[in-house]
Amino acid sequence: MPKVKKKNIRYKTKRAASKKSRVAERQTALQTSLIKSPKLESDLIDIKDAARWASNHLGKNVTSSNISYLIQYGRIRKYGNNGSVQVSVQELEDYYKSFNGHREISWKEQLGKDLNWALSFDQYKEAETTKHVHRLHPYKGKFIPQLVEYFLDSHIDAFKKGVYFRKADIILDPFCGSGTTLVQANELGMHAIGIDISAFNALISNCKVTKFDLFDVQKEIQRITHSLKLFLANSHTIEFEEKLLQELYKFNNEFFPVPDYKYKIKLDEIDEETYGPARAEEFLPIFRKLVKEYKIETRQAKGELFLDKWYFPHIRNEIECVFKEIKKIKNIDTKKIVSIILSRTIRSCRATTHADLATLLEPVTTTYYCAKHGKICKPLFSILKWWETYTKDTVYRLSQFDKKYRTQTLQYCLTGDGRMTNIIEELQKKNPALAKLVRKQKISGIFSSPPYVGLIDYHEQHAYAYDLFGFKRQDELEIGRMKNGQSREAKEVYVKGISEVLKNCKRYLAKNYNVFLVANDKWNLYPIIAENAGMQIINQFKRPVLNRTEKDKGAYSEIIFHLKEKLNEKR
Ligand SMILES: C[S@@+](CC[C@H](N)C(=O)[O-])C[C@H]1O[C@@H](n2cnc3c(N)ncnc32)[C@H](O)[C@@H]1O
Repeated sequence: MPKVKKKNIRYKTKRAASKKSRVAERQTALQTSLIKSPKLESDLIDIKDAARWASNHLGKNVTSSNISYLIQYGRIRKYGNNGSVQVSVQELEDYYKSFNGHREISWKEQLGKDLNWALSFDQYKEAETTKHVHRLHPYKGKFIPQLVEYFLDSHIDAFKKGVYFRKADIILDPFCGSGTTLVQANELGMHAIGIDISAFNALISNCKVTKFDLFDVQKEIQRITHSLKLFLANSHTIEFEEKLLQELYKFNNEFFPVPDYKYKIKLDEIDEETYGPARAEEFLPIFRKLVKEYKIETRQAKGELFLDKWYFPHIRNEIECVFKEIKKIKNIDTKKIVSIILSRTIRSCRATTHADLATLLEPVTTTYYCAKHGKICKPLFSILKWWETYTKDTVYRLSQFDKKYRTQTLQYCLTGDGRMTNIIEELQKKNPALAKLVRKQKISGIFSSPPYVGLIDYHEQHAYAYDLFGFKRQDELEIGRMKNGQSREAKEVYVKGISEVLKNCKRYLAKNYNVFLVANDKWNLYPIIAENAGMQIINQFKRPVLNRTEKDKGAYSEIIFHLKEKLNEKR
């Protein structure tokens, strides 16, 4: 086994007696996987071959970068051979065995044998679960497109014994969120209507299904990028960031070498909690000197807005510069999609650490130790990089959807409260063709994931966008707001709210409708909701949720309730 270099690294070895047994235990485990020497030379293969081997072994596509990721994050070892990187087949096999197989067994033990593992969709790569327009903008709480497809399409299997929807049907999602149902309905040749209380969510959804004039979109993007670059030419921000990155590169190479640093943490030879922050302190004088030299303002503006708290002053100015240019766009659709790009950009530029992107803690205005990347990282000082990345990515995703997936069907998301939205009247104003269709053929059913009790504040997650674009917020009409907690009263209000949405929507449903609701109903509220709405739960599908963004990666499942009209119910 190659020796891990100790040169230049002032690691602090832990010696606390109380930790001895834990350390010994962990080292034994690692010996069987991480640091086991390959028995044979032939056990070593290069990264490309490893990707091929793993694809074959797992029956799904594994790329070279997936293998590099495992090396970088200390899951398997890197072996050198005249400069080329190699890995051990045995270690790869052990890694996959310890991870995937065990997870299925232990999750079934924790969550019940009726867990339908096929609904985990773990054979899909991230690129597939975030395919084309699904990744136009981040949104906390969306379901994966494959789940929608599973219930809307015409396949049957051991769990799904019937076909519920057909081409040209109309599907309704009264909690439309970021529009996953609308997009998948389009792909499958179905029409769809969404409702969401958050104007910004409705904008995201509608942008995903709108057919844009991509030539116009690109023309406007070029014009705005040019203005942003001119604006930046008058500041030292770009130079400052380049210099800072050079200094970070030197420092990180010396104190956080890849992948040795992560191995040492796994072997408990480094106490990450003290080592990381201590090195971050050592780097601060270098950072401060550059800030002074390039006259970078790191103080936040005083004010109430999310934008005041979470953005550096010069980032605010860049955002304003782009927004001013967006206002000049004449084509309304182009204006909307370019606004979505700006919103996605500024979300990535909040002054926070990489680890806290999902749950903002406190603004970060200096370099810091990043446990996620195992090195010193920096906040962003300009929006240019993300703006350029996202403009290209958006155009690419939209054109991919147009070329390969789009069908000539109608979708629209209404902004409104699902409890009282008059679907036909509102559609008549926004999308008359779809209104006409609803009058003619009625809605076949619902596929939706309602909010749950006290989990997410849906307006607040895009507070920056509401501040910037000035949309009307209707937080108080959100059902199950996190702010209202999870008390008994909150649950009662929730049950009433979801029941009312279903009752309102029923007015537009065809006689033999099918309703599918995705929820992790830990308080068993859905039987009451069904009853209140004059429906009955006729089946439940239990699916494991594997790729959660939350830090807690423990066993977690959600139920897809299948409801139909209650027998003898008068409509
Ligand atoms: C779990 S999310 C839906 C996510 C969606 N399935 C997706 O893939 O993006 C629930 C949505 O319900 C919306 N919502 C909450 N209260 C509502 C109400 N009274 N009427 C309509 N929508 C509401 C929230 O704004 C949120 O976007």
